[in-house]
Amino acid sequence: MRHLIDPLDFTTQEINSLLDTADEIAADRKAFSQVCQSKTLATLFYEPSTRTRLSFESAMLNLGGRVLGFASQDSSSAAKGESVADTIRTVSCYADICAMRHPKEGAPFQASRYSRIPVINAGDGGHQHPTQTLTDLMTIRRRRGRLGNLTIGLCGDLKFGRTVHSLLKSLARYEGIRFILISPEELRVPEYLIEEALWAKGIPFVEAEDMERVMDQLDILYMTRVQRERFFNEEDYVRLKDTYILTPEKLRAARPDMSILHPLPRVNEISIEVDEDPRAAYFEQAQNGVYVRMALIMMLLGLSREGAKC
Ligand code: NCD
Repeated sequence: MRHLIDPLDFTTQEINSLLDTADEIAADRKAFSQVCQSKTLATLFYEPSTRTRLSFESAMLNLGGRVLGFASQDSSSAAKGESVADTIRTVSCYADICAMRHPKEGAPFQASRYSRIPVINAGDGGHQHPTQTLTDLMTIRRRRGRLGNLTIGLCGDLKFGRTVHSLLKSLARYEGIRFILISPEELRVPEYLIEEALWAKGIPFVEAEDMERVMDQLDILYMTRVQRERFFNEEDYVRLKDTYILTPEKLRAARPDMSILHPLPRVNEISIEVDEDPRAAYFEQAQNGVYVRMALIMMLLGLSREGAKC
């Protein structure tokens, strides 16, 4: 049985084939509408979510399956003090696969050790968010036609942003990737990740504070929200929250074929006028999130297009 806990749990070949399936789904969603008949997905969300939870549910419903779950910690027995291990043992009796979001780093991994069904990490604290990465990779591949030989600008809260951590680890596996890490001093990529994902593999990167100075070098600009819920004090959040606000003026220096990604939700870091720019890819990302999650559910349940075990 396979789980998806860390973005590196899948090989690059497996990711390519998952993205190929996601592309096929995007081209003909109806052809996949019976694949998961009589299968059930459980969504166990101990933290707020709009896109991730609903796109998982939408994905399973599109595959002809069923969904159940909870959307907040206080509507589950976690509020009574139940452990993740006991919860997953129970959910294993009710569902065939589950997606878990938790404020504690490592909780989905812990769950996977006690689970009888595949567990998908739908975001664990400020750690990882591998299914957002699949969404990001699909969007980059569709926009640019490749995942290698790109200069990627990651901008905003690189310290607490789990989507950034997962994307960085994943993209570092492709040839010719170069990173420009744009953040205030306090919100830089954690040292352990710089060492593990970049230094150890000799991946070229620079750290920058000024977005406009590096804009003309970027193939991809990945904007992120300052992660208020991970801050120790509100004062620091208020001081840092508007460090970067992408506007049409700032985009003047950008390449015409650059793509702007954002995992969403957006707070203030991309002005709404940018939404009209053809380089804005963030709502496309939200759409692609359904396709990659459909492909992921199929892969982890070992189901082919016809619904049979492959
Ligand atoms: C992200 C998350 O939850 O980490 N959202 C998402 O899943 N699309 C990003 C964020 O909350 O800023």
